[in-house]
Amino acid sequence: MKQNLEIYNQVDWWNPKHSLKQMVPVRFDYFTKQIGNLKGLKILDLGCGGGLLSEEFAKRGTEVIGVDISENSIAIAKTHALENNLTIDYKSGTAENIPANDNTFDVVICADCLEHVDNLEKVIGEISRVIKNDGMFCYDTINRTLSSKITVCWIANRILRWQNKHLDVSEKSYAVHDWNKFIKPVELYQLMNKYDFKNIEVKGIQFAGIKNGSFKARIGENIKIAYIGYARKK
Ligand SMILES: C[S@@+](CC[C@H](N)C(=O)[O-])C[C@H]1O[C@@H](n2cnc3c(N)ncnc32)[C@H](O)[C@@H]1O
Repeated sequence: MKQNLEIYNQVDWWNPKHSLKQMVPVRFDYFTKQIGNLKGLKILDLGCGGGLLSEEFAKRGTEVIGVDISENSIAIAKTHALENNLTIDYKSGTAENIPANDNTFDVVICADCLEHVDNLEKVIGEISRVIKNDGMFCYDTINRTLSSKITVCWIANRILRWQNKHLDVSEKSYAVHDWNKFIKPVELYQLMNKYDFKNIEVKGIQFAGIKNGSFKARIGENIKIAYIGYARKK
């Protein structure tokens, strides 16, 4: 079944039980270990959703710009930042046409978004355009394997449906993960190479049990389902 992003317009981003919320510490710890000192950096959170990661970076003294295709998610992110006295520049826009000038960011974060975009090559080209030379591109996404078909397209999509059963969205919107759009690491490396990135590291995001109805994850060596890593612009 093809993916449909309608659900992101209604998702309860800041619900502590939400699986994306549960993923924040795993992603944030990994990215910050690679980035080092955050203070004063200019960071783009591409596909920022409700601002879960943007806020973590903003709290540590970075200047954060968050961009997402979902206008409702951007509205939720703006309200939440305001309520928490955080200054974050949220914009609705697409990863295929990032609303930013060339050579703007020290770091671009793209968490759990690359596998949703319509034109991956255009997105990587755009990230390369807006990132400064020697800047970092931090990503995590889903591998296109039989394991991901079973765990993400069958199991995780069903959990998502159960978690969001109260939403007024069409049935097809629960198929938010389209296996055909998942990305093999080698495909990502080839595109990054074409657009002046050198991949530095990749690790697996591994299943670590269920807690309060949501799955837990940890960083490991197995990249068969999902992977996280970073590259530098040459
Ligand atoms: C799984 S959510 C991840 C949100 C956030 N990065 C996080 O980790 O909490 C994927 C997000 O990507 C956004 N998205 C999908 N396609 C996009 C595109 N082409 N351009 C910008 N955002 C997009 C969706 O609206 C959604 O908010």
